[in-house]
Amino acid sequence: MNQSLSIVILAAGKGTRMRNPRPKVLHPLAGLPVIGHVLATAGELAPTTLVVVLADGMDDVAEVVGRLAPGAQVAVQEPQLGTGHAVMAARALLPGRGTVLVLYGDTPLLSGTTAARLVQARAEADAAVAVLGMRPPDPTGYGRLRMVDGRLVEIVEERHADAELRATAPCNSGIMAFDAARLAVLLDALALRPEKGEYYLTDAVAAAVDRGWPVIAVEGPWEEGQGINSQAQLAEVAGMLQERLRGRLLDSGVTMEAPGTVFLSVDSIVAPGAILEPYVVLGPGVRIAAGAVVHAFSHLEGAVVGPGCSVGPFARLRPGADLEESARVGNFVEVKAARLGRGAKANHLSYVGDAEVGAGANLGAGTITCNYDGFAKHRTQVGAGAFIGSNTALVAPVRVGAGSIVAAGSTITADVPDDALAVARERQHTLPHRAAALRARLAARRGR
Ligand code: UD1
Ligand code: CA
Repeated sequence: MNQSLSIVILAAGKGTRMRNPRPKVLHPLAGLPVIGHVLATAGELAPTTLVVVLADGMDDVAEVVGRLAPGAQVAVQEPQLGTGHAVMAARALLPGRGTVLVLYGDTPLLSGTTAARLVQARAEADAAVAVLGMRPPDPTGYGRLRMVDGRLVEIVEERHADAELRATAPCNSGIMAFDAARLAVLLDALALRPEKGEYYLTDAVAAAVDRGWPVIAVEGPWEEGQGINSQAQLAEVAGMLQERLRGRLLDSGVTMEAPGTVFLSVDSIVAPGAILEPYVVLGPGVRIAAGAVVHAFSHLEGAVVGPGCSVGPFARLRPGADLEESARVGNFVEVKAARLGRGAKANHLSYVGDAEVGAGANLGAGTITCNYDGFAKHRTQVGAGAFIGSNTALVAPVRVGAGSIVAAGSTITADVPDDALAVARERQHTLPHRAAALRARLAARRGR
């Protein structure tokens, strides 16, 4: 643990450019809200103090922060008068010594490695401020680092920057490390910018330079500094993150024929030797073992897929789906909160919810667990080796014993003992020659 590191995450901004009532930092990104990525990066640095700055009424964000980073404290900034003002709001919670690292809630791709590099560079130079600079292909919207003789002297917001500075200067990622002791002085020095009615944290650089305090810029990979201000930027960041996640899986030995069509979550665990076919989506909480194949167009979340399993094409595994070794879930099958034992099969057009399916059991095409009566959910148990005929409705709570056979088309409402044969459907009536007779009568009626 770094004894003297505090981290402040700024997330009180309204995010109006997102044009969406959902708080900007709660938009989902690879299975985690945007701010979850920043909290994870902060967590990697093991700070002694972690403060998240939120606006009044951002209770939903505070709730997510509390869940993902129980040690974090929330500071309320009201009203929102800019990034400098946001750090002022956290001031009372920050120790007066060590390093204060400021992260932005809307900059989720920053890695722990780069953040640590900035913190270390600040300490080594004993700088009052260290700024993470970057050179994105499209610098629109970013503040610019004005360098004189290779030294950072000022950060100029784009709206105040002249054409030359805009075209040539590195951009401000927004991520900055401060000497805690000098931060207090710098915050006091910030003046309200009348153009936007804001205190810019970026003005702390010029304030430090004015005092003759050392200031440094550290350049980092631009991808990590990409901020999210609009839906387009959210999509861009999501794309970059997917690239990163896919690359990791490919490097580790997962086979993907068309990785660009596979969508992953940050917590996706796919073992080397597994195959993800094209157009597979892994939501949060998925674990796939070696030798498993997820066929095309399958959607998984909160699911465990055991070794050698086959899923899809067009399968949906919802939270609590647990497929043991060599189980098979085929096309148009939905599985939720259900365990399929070793080698169990549900190959076609089924719903398996709130169920326990024993090893080697076979759920025929169209098997449906009727788990919900409009008020509560009930469980279905199918014993090992049972054979459920096609188009069977299993009305839960119900238990079908091991080794039993259920006739196709049955509606099972009572438990079936082990090794029994259950038939629960209307007996068939066959009337010889009646089809021809009926057809003749109908034709006559139509006057032919
Ligand atoms: C800011 C920087 C800009 C930098 C860019 C990087 C300033 C003045 N400008 O611009 O130099 O290139 O980030 O992405 O700092 N926030 C608050 N309270 C506020 C205002 C903002 O908590 O009153 C938070 C926001 O929630 C956001 C972050 O601070 O997470 C940045 O705010 P934003 O308005 O997006 O700043 P930019 O215009 O992007
Ligand atoms: Ca921003």
